[in-house]
Amino acid sequence: MAWPLRGYQVVSEVYNIIEKKKLDVVSNPIEKSHGLPNECYTSEKYTQLERKKLFEDKWVVIGVASSLPNKGDAKPFDLLGIPIIILRDKKNKIRVFHNVCSHRGYKILQKSCKIKNLIRCPYHSWSYDTSGKLIATPHLGGMNKHECKKFDKSKSNLKEIRSSVWLDMIFINISENEISFEKYIKPLSDRWEQFWPKKDRKLMVYSNDFGYFNLNAKCNWKFAIENYCESYHLPWVHPGLNSYSKISDHYHIQGLPNRFAGQGTKVYNPKLKGKEKFPCFPNWPKDKEHIAEYVALFPNVMLGIHKDHFYAYWLEPVDHKFTKEHMEIYYVGEKAANSQKYKSLRKQNHKLWKSVQIEDVGIIEGMQEGRNSPSYNGGNFSPVMDNPTHHFHKWVATNIV
Ligand code: FES
Ligand SMILES: [Fe+2]
Repeated sequence: MAWPLRGYQVVSEVYNIIEKKKLDVVSNPIEKSHGLPNECYTSEKYTQLERKKLFEDKWVVIGVASSLPNKGDAKPFDLLGIPIIILRDKKNKIRVFHNVCSHRGYKILQKSCKIKNLIRCPYHSWSYDTSGKLIATPHLGGMNKHECKKFDKSKSNLKEIRSSVWLDMIFINISENEISFEKYIKPLSDRWEQFWPKKDRKLMVYSNDFGYFNLNAKCNWKFAIENYCESYHLPWVHPGLNSYSKISDHYHIQGLPNRFAGQGTKVYNPKLKGKEKFPCFPNWPKDKEHIAEYVALFPNVMLGIHKDHFYAYWLEPVDHKFTKEHMEIYYVGEKAANSQKYKSLRKQNHKLWKSVQIEDVGIIEGMQEGRNSPSYNGGNFSPVMDNPTHHFHKWVATNIV
């Protein structure tokens, strides 16, 4: 935590864990920089700081709205230990709350459920509606007295977390310090307008059968993001993908202001078996039909947009060396997403992405092991191939201070 005392230089807490010069060097031009130092991947104390600076202070993804399809659906989520409730309220709106009872601090929701009317705390049965309002306080004023003049119920509602849903992803900003989500996402949203206009985005539908998988990665969450940013590893890690989409077919993406990075390909051409083909977004321009983009939106979601499907691959950091990865896949219209006609294609596409992501998990777990080497200086980048990865490292290095 920085203490902004007048006349004194503000000193960030991160410098108690990492030497300042090791973080400063990250933001140098790529040929003179190194990657983030080992402590960023191996230190529990550092990860606590990351929780505050990169996860509470930023817009982060905690799930998708399609996983709560009906009014009253609710589930708990832990963001690096912060207990959260995600629910769909009676007006069909996704809302997010701190998962802690205003009475004695019990973690109210322990598992996914369907809220009929109220969320009841199991400890003393205080109960809240789906807008977080405290409704019932049994025996609060003594036996059979459920109200008390000295107690103002309106001061004990559940604490709501600022949230926004974009392309089905649920974003939260716990500290409420970021710019509005609309402003935050505009640079990426505008970038995609050239081939994926907003009217087409509304057509995407979550696939209920082959729309989801999850993987566990025994490593720090950042490795998944930085690996996703580059296509340099394609020939060796994804020989299957590389057979039709080579490094030379890819281009770098480095968003400004620095909030996202990744890569695009110019030769997307799905080769799934069978005579059917997925329907495409209707306003995707013909001259860009082979464009696909793979963008990591910092800190914790990796997006893939193609003319015929979209995915959001989001990360649930559990601790400094364990990450859960969640893949959510969408198609163009209800038929493509859920009908029998396209089932075989969905199954193949699901299998394809799962096998690619498993190949990446093998790599990023090896990077975690490498970070135990005291000889490693954070990494020497290729000045040509590693720019988007460097972009992400700079984002971390500047936002953690
Ligand atoms: S802690 Fe929830 S009702 Fe007492
Ligand atoms: Fe990869």
